[in-house]
Amino acid sequence: MDKKVYLETFGCQMNVVDSERIISLLAQIGYRQVDSAEEADLVLLNTCSVRDRAERKVYGHLGRFKPIKDRRPELIVGVGGCVAQQEGEKMLAETPYLDIVFGTHNIHKLPEMVLKVEGREGRFHETDFLDKETRLTLFPNRSEGDEVCRFVTIMQGCDNFCTYCVVPHVRGREISRSSAEILDEVRGLAADGMKEVTLIGQNVNSYGIQDERELSFAALLRAVADIDGIERIRFTTSHPKDMSDELIACFADLDKLCHHIHLPVQCGSDPILTKMNRGYSREEYLELVEKLRKACPDIRFSTDIIVGFPGESEADFEQTLDLVEQVRYADAFTFLYSPRPGTAAAEMEETLAPEVKQARFDRLIELQQQISETFWQDDVGKVLPVLVEGESKKGEGQYFGRTTWNRIVNFPGSPKLVGRTVMLRIVKNFRNSQLGEIVSD
Ligand code: 5AD
Ligand code: SF4
Repeated sequence: MDKKVYLETFGCQMNVVDSERIISLLAQIGYRQVDSAEEADLVLLNTCSVRDRAERKVYGHLGRFKPIKDRRPELIVGVGGCVAQQEGEKMLAETPYLDIVFGTHNIHKLPEMVLKVEGREGRFHETDFLDKETRLTLFPNRSEGDEVCRFVTIMQGCDNFCTYCVVPHVRGREISRSSAEILDEVRGLAADGMKEVTLIGQNVNSYGIQDERELSFAALLRAVADIDGIERIRFTTSHPKDMSDELIACFADLDKLCHHIHLPVQCGSDPILTKMNRGYSREEYLELVEKLRKACPDIRFSTDIIVGFPGESEADFEQTLDLVEQVRYADAFTFLYSPRPGTAAAEMEETLAPEVKQARFDRLIELQQQISETFWQDDVGKVLPVLVEGESKKGEGQYFGRTTWNRIVNFPGSPKLVGRTVMLRIVKNFRNSQLGEIVSD
């Protein structure tokens, strides 16, 4: 029987990879993916709870499925991911049209749960955390697909407990996958046409540290670079406190490693960094940036910054602005602090008026925008290698890829260029992309 599943994914790359796995598991019980909830037999949300706004979005989106279920009561509705992990049974109790709630460690149980709901056996929730050994056997095996750029998970979970962050609570403890399995997966994907791999995990820099027989993260990068067919390597997310000299050296001598690093700083003030439990000082962070620039002079940085953490003074905030000016990030993702249930910071008193938080946020965005624009302007006229990923949404005959600095470039091209690296002259900048023209392919 031809059954259809509609899946919406929110949040980080971990959820994107989990969603791929959800689709391939559901294919085993006869579901194929469709683009609209209206035509689906099963609708799923893979959710994110990292910030308040992300969480609220989930409830908004879930509400859209209610009228469909009113019309077609046989529709199965499920929620997975971090919000599901956090809310569990409560979510089922409060949402009568919801059939399934599955947590971050329970994706493998989804087919069984769906089959039970199909058989009218009831409504189900599974949000238990699994032990490390069981989790290791459940990492997504080589995912299918022939995309040029793919994510490969190398570790999951987080042990850092930054005081504002819900991730350790909803993703569980940190575990690293074996390097043999990772390299096997990369080899398989490369054989299917992958040219660029992004190694992902909540904190990739602590890859393998729990097992002294395992490769270090830097050694893993080098092993990935030795695989035939791999042309570009990226990784995310890095924690500054775990950034080794060995890893910095990779930026100097691994040609395949892209010249971009996402290095979340969160704040530029020492007292706040301490309250956040980040494990580094402003000075140490700036030293890291220097070392990376020395290893790779044209490296570009992006970062995450939280504005309005409990107790943030005007002076603390100015330290953040000052750090942003010193580092000169090519891009920064800025967030208004929001308390997350179960975290240590949620217990800290918030003294800042919302208008003050917002005004700081706006100042930071304005500063970052000016800095970003200098990078973009600087790119105009440059001829840069771009790995072509596919057809662009910008219109017929338009293709897209990314520069080594991870900025999207759209350009008039042709299907034969997909998977190839072309030299593009950058002619124009937009907020989230650039326009290029082919110089040579
Ligand atoms: N409030 C605001 N931003 C947050 N982030 C994580 N938790 C919170 C929170 N409670 C941001 C951090 C992190 C990014 C993924 O989300 O900057 O790096
Ligand atoms: Fe959250 Fe900190 Fe872990 Fe990143 S390192 S996932 S911010 S606890």
